[in-house]
Amino acid sequence: MNILFDQRHTRERKEGMVEKERVCVTGAGGFQASWLVNLLLSQGYIVHGTLRDPNDEKNSHLKKMEYAETNLRLFKADLLDYDSLLAPIEGCSGVFHLASPVPTGSVPNPEVELIEPAVTGTSNVLKSCSMANVKKVVVLSSVAAVMFDQNWPKNQAMDESCWSDKDYCRTTENWYCLSKTEAEGLALEYAKTRALNVVTVCPSIILGPLLQSRMNTSSAFLLKMMKDGLETLENKVRMFVDVRDMAEAMLLVYKKPEAEGRYICSSFTLTLENLVEKLKSMYPNYNYPKQFVGGEEGWDVTSQKLVSLGWKYRPLEETLVDSIHDYQEKGHLTITKG
Ligand SMILES: NC(=O)c1ccc[n+]([C@@H]2O[C@H](COP(=O)([O-])OP(=O)(O)OC[C@H]3O[C@@H](n4cnc5c(N)ncnc54)[C@H](OP(=O)(O)O)[C@@H]3O)[C@@H](O)[C@H]2O)c1
Repeated sequence: MNILFDQRHTRERKEGMVEKERVCVTGAGGFQASWLVNLLLSQGYIVHGTLRDPNDEKNSHLKKMEYAETNLRLFKADLLDYDSLLAPIEGCSGVFHLASPVPTGSVPNPEVELIEPAVTGTSNVLKSCSMANVKKVVVLSSVAAVMFDQNWPKNQAMDESCWSDKDYCRTTENWYCLSKTEAEGLALEYAKTRALNVVTVCPSIILGPLLQSRMNTSSAFLLKMMKDGLETLENKVRMFVDVRDMAEAMLLVYKKPEAEGRYICSSFTLTLENLVEKLKSMYPNYNYPKQFVGGEEGWDVTSQKLVSLGWKYRPLEETLVDSIHDYQEKGHLTITKG
């Protein structure tokens, strides 16, 4: 694949043809990144994807994407190895930094498992971008870097001015939130001091069909609701966005010259009980939680800034139907009658 890729680019340069725009996507084989790579390829971009192990079977879906043979090049790179990031970023006008650990359970050593790859990883990516004179960087953060501010007024939707309190994340041992808050803060600070054009996107829980074969953390959350038959579940408020709408959001902020700072990206807010009611009405025969306890109110975020930039999103029902259909097809969920 790389031979074809290199031959075509050598020919284009010799013939003085205008090259298509090159961009790099870090952690290209992940749930969200795969949809972004797919979107970029469909729009004619040449994509450099970084992977820790390009030969791992879990990344094989990338090579099967339309236009991958000619327009996708995969590089072996680790976020903690600065030198490994230079080759994939060299020659790119844009970089989408998505690679960051998303824990599946408890994190015994948060510094090593989460904070360092998120923070040092982001720093290494940004330094490589400066070295390569990259024009724009889009960093994938999370509403986890927005929502944990105890001082935000209740019943007021959180906007981009709201930042998670790092001390609160530490005392509550919310290491993932701390990793995303530290990494996003560093990215925006770096942009200011080093004159690099950096925009961040903060999505809520990302759901949707999988392009990769392995299960990821946020999709596992939806599966758990349908499979585990929990006796009781705390009725928390949760926010959701579709993986395909998120890919569009990242490309939108990349393409729009006026995009600046942070962008919250979330389509729907509902309690877990409401989510389960919705799922039950469409798929009554799964093993849903039996009872909900407690309840939260007044939590919300607003994506108005992103909507004003031109972002659109699909209905939640479409996300749920497409996700469940995909889990059934891939064998993550058995097909039931009704
Ligand atoms: N899914 C959500 O609900 C959600 C919500 C908000 C924000 N996000 C953010 O979205 C991004 C992608 O998450 P995802 O949901 O798509 O999860 P995912 O499928 O688990 O993807 C995470 C990616 O990060 C890579 N990675 C982790 N540590 C790395 C390291 N040290 N060096 C290089 N690559 C490393 C992983 O590579 P390997 O395959 O090699 O492990 C994987 O490709 C993350 O930044 C996450 O924080 C996700």
